[in-house]
Amino acid sequence: MAESLKLRSVEKQFTTSRRDVTALTGIDLDIASGEFVGIVGPSGCGKSTLLRLLAGLDTPSKGQILIDNQPVARQDPRCAVMFQEPRLFPWKRVEANVAVGARRSKEKPSPGNWLGLVGLDGFGHCYPHQLSGGMAQRVALARALIGNPEVLLLDEPFGALDALTRMQMQDLLAEVCDRVGTTVVMVTHDIDEALYLSDRVVIMSPRPGEIVEVLNVPAHRARDRSDPAVARMRTQVLRHFGFEEPCTESVALSYGAAAD
Ligand SMILES: Nc1ncnc2c1ncn2[C@@H]1O[C@H](COP(=O)(O)OP(=O)(O)OP(=O)(O)O)[C@@H](O)[C@H]1O
Ligand SMILES: [Mg+2]
Repeated sequence: MAESLKLRSVEKQFTTSRRDVTALTGIDLDIASGEFVGIVGPSGCGKSTLLRLLAGLDTPSKGQILIDNQPVARQDPRCAVMFQEPRLFPWKRVEANVAVGARRSKEKPSPGNWLGLVGLDGFGHCYPHQLSGGMAQRVALARALIGNPEVLLLDEPFGALDALTRMQMQDLLAEVCDRVGTTVVMVTHDIDEALYLSDRVVIMSPRPGEIVEVLNVPAHRARDRSDPAVARMRTQVLRHFGFEEPCTESVALSYGAAAD
């Protein structure tokens, strides 16, 4: 079952020996059960930090995060996370790495089926070092999806994939999420990806990360990639990042990194 998420005045500060960094401030957001929310913003604005807080891998300095109206637990078992890098266990074979994500499921789904879905049939016996970056990322996606999590937290899940594989993985994700009804929060640098998959797109400011706008995406998933209504929204998102003219190329927000 999918769960709702609530963020209430969330702030996160990091204290290092040299200085304090406010990564996030004043984050208020309600995400409905089964909703798909995309998060876009410049590099360093706190997107990964936000996902770590939602997963209970770190705690807010101020504010509160609730999953299904209960405070998020340490390493909350309701969440599956796919990090910015694959983070596979190097000593486990691919199949065993995927099976790690099935720990919580009662019916013990087969890792082999999931490897097939992410286009990795026949690679179950390999070790992570025998995979390309994009293959390792797809293993991490299979590991995140296999347990039918209530909340799926994805940090730039398709960043290392070529354009065609990325589109296939986006369609797989949309199909699985619709079937399972998972609540999804996906960070991405790719505005088109955010608009293709999300019910709402959250736009964040440069660090300290604040929510500057939340857009409702018209039309239901999975959308027509050339839907004019979505194209208009793309122009609206680009304006937030300083682009006034409509842009025809696929846009990734790799520019505008906050000076750290
Ligand atoms: N453990 C930490 N200790 C100190 N500072 C941190 C820590 N984690 C993140 N930060 C700082 O918090 C800010 C936000 O980092 P975060 O990784 O959340 O950004 P991001 O939006 O995910 O960036 P990117 O798009 O490049 O992945 C950065 O200034 C970063 O240096
Ligand atoms: Mg990040």
